[in-house]
Amino acid sequence: MAKRRLKKKVKIGLIVVAIIIVLIIAIVVGINSYKKHQTYIASYEYKLEALGYKDDQLEYLLKQDNKIKDAILNKKYNEHIVDFLKQKYFILNNLDAYLEYYDKNKNDSFEHIISIVNVNANYDHYDHTKETNLDDGILMLVNKYNYLPEDYDPTDIVDVKNWYCYGENQIKDEVYQKFIEMFDAAKEADKKLIISSGYRTHEDQEDTYNSYVDRYGVKKADTLAARPGFSEHETGLTLDITTGTATKDTFEDTEEFEWLKENSYKYGFILRYPKDKEDITGYAYEPWHYRYVGIEVATKIHELDITYDEYYAYFLAN
Ligand code: DAL
Ligand code: ZN
Repeated sequence: MAKRRLKKKVKIGLIVVAIIIVLIIAIVVGINSYKKHQTYIASYEYKLEALGYKDDQLEYLLKQDNKIKDAILNKKYNEHIVDFLKQKYFILNNLDAYLEYYDKNKNDSFEHIISIVNVNANYDHYDHTKETNLDDGILMLVNKYNYLPEDYDPTDIVDVKNWYCYGENQIKDEVYQKFIEMFDAAKEADKKLIISSGYRTHEDQEDTYNSYVDRYGVKKADTLAARPGFSEHETGLTLDITTGTATKDTFEDTEEFEWLKENSYKYGFILRYPKDKEDITGYAYEPWHYRYVGIEVATKIHELDITYDEYYAYFLAN
């Protein structure tokens, strides 16, 4: 009798243990799947999908830095965000401006919109201007949106020997030394480079600009000359180069220009206003105007084949 009762007790005990084990397993499985769900709804995948991104766009976005994903999660779904992200010179801070510009210029390419917005050319010329960062030294940006202080007085301005120039010219010493190296190399190749305009004071630039205005009116003058304060010539880092009897109109057809196209970067000079980039630089093509930025940066710009405005926006200000 006592034996049977004991057996029954053992049986009940085993059943209770089994129930407890099953309960523990159920609780553990439940907690795990709850945790998994919580992790999923906190994931970028879930949130981006909830915003409307899917398939290729979602896959592309998930590969981006968290900073980019976070910024996108703060915006409404936009089918073109990924198109802009895929561009080489995409700058996250400009994303809203890219989208806004696209809305008004739907036939423009994403690549071109990136260039326009990066250099501020989505604003009118001489609108949204700010003072140039002089701490950039030889890399300072001077264009229609970045101006020099009126009393800017660059250091180390030296006279150019008349062997190297037409008329009287001055330039920053470092630029002069590099020009002489370039002049000698060009001479070795039977090319003669002559400086036609170097450093200009604010007043010189005022005279230059006003003479264009008198000749052509403001609209055209603005494509040919910078307003005082907005000219690179006022930095002492820029040279207009010519040769022999070439004029500004014919310099492009000279062997000297061909030589400069292939070699000027080796001495730290870049063609500052290239052909077909008027909408980026704000100026008509100027085959004669070279800006000194140092060999390293000039080489990079030559390789990337971009304007200085684009280079500065992406590599220096970004
Ligand atoms: N011609 C160039 C743009 C200047 O005036 O600085
Ligand atoms: Zn010039």
